[in-house]
Amino acid sequence: MADPAGTEQAAFEPSAIEWQQATCYLNGEWTALTEAKVSVLDRGFIFGDGIYEVIAVDTVDDLRAPFRARQHFARLQRSLDMVRIDNPFSVEHWLNLIAEAIERHPWTRQLVYVQVTRGVAKRDHPFPAGAVPTVFVNTSPWPAIPVEQIEQGVSAVTHADERWLHCDIKSTSLLGNVLMKQYAIDNGASETVMLRDGFLTEGSSTNVSVVKSGVISMPPQTVQILPGITVDGIAHIAQQHGVEVDMRPIAAAELRAADEIWLSSSGREMLAIVSLDGVGVGSGKPGPMYRSMHAWFQQAKALDAQQWAAERAGHLSITRTTQRAA
Ligand code: PDD
Repeated sequence: MADPAGTEQAAFEPSAIEWQQATCYLNGEWTALTEAKVSVLDRGFIFGDGIYEVIAVDTVDDLRAPFRARQHFARLQRSLDMVRIDNPFSVEHWLNLIAEAIERHPWTRQLVYVQVTRGVAKRDHPFPAGAVPTVFVNTSPWPAIPVEQIEQGVSAVTHADERWLHCDIKSTSLLGNVLMKQYAIDNGASETVMLRDGFLTEGSSTNVSVVKSGVISMPPQTVQILPGITVDGIAHIAQQHGVEVDMRPIAAAELRAADEIWLSSSGREMLAIVSLDGVGVGSGKPGPMYRSMHAWFQQAKALDAQQWAAERAGHLSITRTTQRAA
């Protein structure tokens, strides 16, 4: 069908009918997304006492696959351990679950969302005895990353990082991040790049890397930033191609003097930041290193998809026998 808005983005917007057909997994049941309900006493709702993951699913060479799924579930385990919520499932069980979520929906590109909270209990701060974690999985259409953003880059503004000192936990308590994203929007930018004590931390919902004289630098993995699955992928891919990657604190002055600045996340893959606080970065266009990395990143996705397909080949009967929602 023609796309009236003339944009790729609009073409992927789900119609109301698609949303009505969307199902989600909630505590052992597949339910219509519009019908799924959790208790108002869920600690995720009351305290933001939960952990989440967002996993990108793309179709490469006709293979629809989540990117770096095992790494996402390793990080989920780490976050759950850090806040002492029991992981309800093994990695294999999680992989089956997201495979089923993907399979139940027609979209070629999806963003799978996984959330585990501490469960339902009378409101009180201490961990409740015997609460059963709430498990929620849903998937949404993932609009194509606008070609213009890939080719022309995006703008960002800086702000002091005012969040807590456990940004390494992928917690659903995201108010600090939400405020920082809105700061970007309010300033006509695509992302807010945060600085703590004069050093780069990360974006409101992305990791940030810089390139200077052909070397990629990334802030070290400390409590100050999320250990991003995408940025970790970028580091591996770069090293495979013989590009030097340096993990070290990056001072504000270095950020501003960088040849290239990149943001990365599951939802945005990697984009060049070409304007920071209204000042052009490098040439003011996505740089040569970005263009190489972006192409290698797409190749890595294809390889990952092949591996996923090979691994899933033996599991198809499991997903097929699971009862489907009416
Ligand atoms: N955000 N840093 C922050 C604060 C993030 O929220 C994210 C991802 C990242 C990148 O992580 P990854 O490469 O593993 O997606 C870094 C997700 C997509 C979100 O909250 O929607």
